[in-house]
Amino acid sequence: MQKPKIVAIYGSPRRKGNTATLLKKAIEGARDSGADVEEIVLRDLKISPCLEIYGCLQAGECAIKDDFQLVRDKILNAQGLFLASPVFFYTVSAHTKMLMDRFQSLWVKKYWVDKIPREQQTNTRKGLFISVGATKGKKLFDGMLLSIRYFFDVLDMELWKALLYRELDFQDDVLKHPEYLEEAYLAGKQFARAISG
Ligand SMILES: Cc1cc2nc3c(=O)[nH]c(=O)nc-3n(C[C@H](O)[C@H](O)[C@H](O)COP(=O)(O)O)c2cc1C
Repeated sequence: MQKPKIVAIYGSPRRKGNTATLLKKAIEGARDSGADVEEIVLRDLKISPCLEIYGCLQAGECAIKDDFQLVRDKILNAQGLFLASPVFFYTVSAHTKMLMDRFQSLWVKKYWVDKIPREQQTNTRKGLFISVGATKGKKLFDGMLLSIRYFFDVLDMELWKALLYRELDFQDDVLKHPEYLEEAYLAGKQFARAISG
């Protein structure tokens, strides 16, 4: 039997920060459950912001040629996505947002080029979202969760689970919370089982 495929995206500019540590744990869990996980570090890639030129109106293909196409194809060929981003000004990091905006080309393909009726939108895949913020406000993750839900919709993806942790600021803060790391590991394990069907 083929291993279920997951793409894991590091959306923080900080390589060994809190979201990266949590994401690594989720990946470890998923691999321990037999998934094939491919890791992508956004800060190592060249991905332009969306330039709103709507070259994608031609055939639903983004006209800007850079590392976006590579990431898009990997995501679309996987059954699952792990996406990790810190809270930056109450939304996702710029690296994460640039990737998200480039998927407007897929939105255009689905709804304007292929004219798929909205009611036929089915979420055939699953996504796990991981985030942390320095503060502890009740609404800390509200803005980003709305963006993530709509982003996942474009990918035909259900938000399977969101792991959200407050009051983590310095790089190693998450290490003071082994319970968060354990939760991320278990989520990774369960996720891999969930996409194995
Ligand atoms: C540009 C920038 C904006 C930030 N904005 C917020 C914010 O709006 N709310 C908050 O609670 N923390 C904010 N933070 C703090 C980060 O969310 C926090 O340091 C987090 O632990 C970083 O995660 P990482 O280690 O995975 O990069 C911000 C940090 C930076 C660098």
